[in-house]
Amino acid sequence: MLTGAGKVAGVVGWPIAHSLSPLLHGYWLDALKIDGALVPLAIPREDFARVIGGLQGAGFRGVNVTVPHKEAAFALAHFCDAAATAAGAANLLVFHADGRIEGRNTDTVGLTEAVRERMGSLQGRTIMLLGAGGAARAAVLALDGLGAAKVHLLNRQADKAVMLARSLQPAVRCEIMPGGLEDWDKVAPGADFLINATSAGMKGNPPLGLDLAQLAGGATVLDIVYNPLETELLKQAKARGLATIDGLGMLMHQAVPSFEAFFAVKPEVTAGLRACLERALQHA
Ligand code: ATR
Repeated sequence: MLTGAGKVAGVVGWPIAHSLSPLLHGYWLDALKIDGALVPLAIPREDFARVIGGLQGAGFRGVNVTVPHKEAAFALAHFCDAAATAAGAANLLVFHADGRIEGRNTDTVGLTEAVRERMGSLQGRTIMLLGAGGAARAAVLALDGLGAAKVHLLNRQADKAVMLARSLQPAVRCEIMPGGLEDWDKVAPGADFLINATSAGMKGNPPLGLDLAQLAGGATVLDIVYNPLETELLKQAKARGLATIDGLGMLMHQAVPSFEAFFAVKPEVTAGLRACLERALQHA
């Protein structure tokens, strides 16, 4: 059960102005004719715990949590789902009627659904995953759940890939093979699927600058970056005739469980929602 008479939830981060969460949840609230709101709240790091207590007291149903508060949210929650526990980070806090706060992480389910709707199962596939932060961690769990056989985990700082592989390997069935970006030439020809889970290529960040000519012709390329929607990586992949998946799928799907937790209805990821977010990104 959820607390509060009003159907109000929040998204907390610092900064928060560019978050697409209010638009995304607002679209579903309109479509489902629910009289509710998801309010963006810019909260500095030092105020996080105090503000969460205040929102809970004010009858909010919970909050989506973004940078830099995901670890603090995990620490503050009274109990967490398996995904948040595995990540050590929560991107959703649900305020329960008994006063307890539940921490959840919906990144893994978001990526799982975004991949599943385009590619189905990954049974037996070899994946090349770039990055070693929270997004890469969620991606390993998603790939494992979809049946991947082998994940080459390459990161700019190879030691971070080694550490992440060491911490995740006991929890997954797929074989995780860590390395640095310099291993690209060696690994790329054998990969069925390339995923960028780094922040390279995001607006204001330099692109990865990898040579996609090394990838096999049947490979698929997914970028979790969604601003810009067509990253340099995806442009290059399209130019090579490879199948591509942009970052909006993951963004939309990871919002489904949070909307359901706040507003008690499971919303649908539709072409209309995608078009709405694409329009917003064009002006971002
Ligand atoms: P998140 O939790 O969103 O994954 P993060 O923990 O800050 O964010 O991780 C960002 C990832 O993007 C890291 O893997 C980082 O590589 P390093 O660990 O070597 O720093 C990667 N990254 C960021 N900018 C990059 C760039 N220009 N080229 C390659 N990798 C980059």
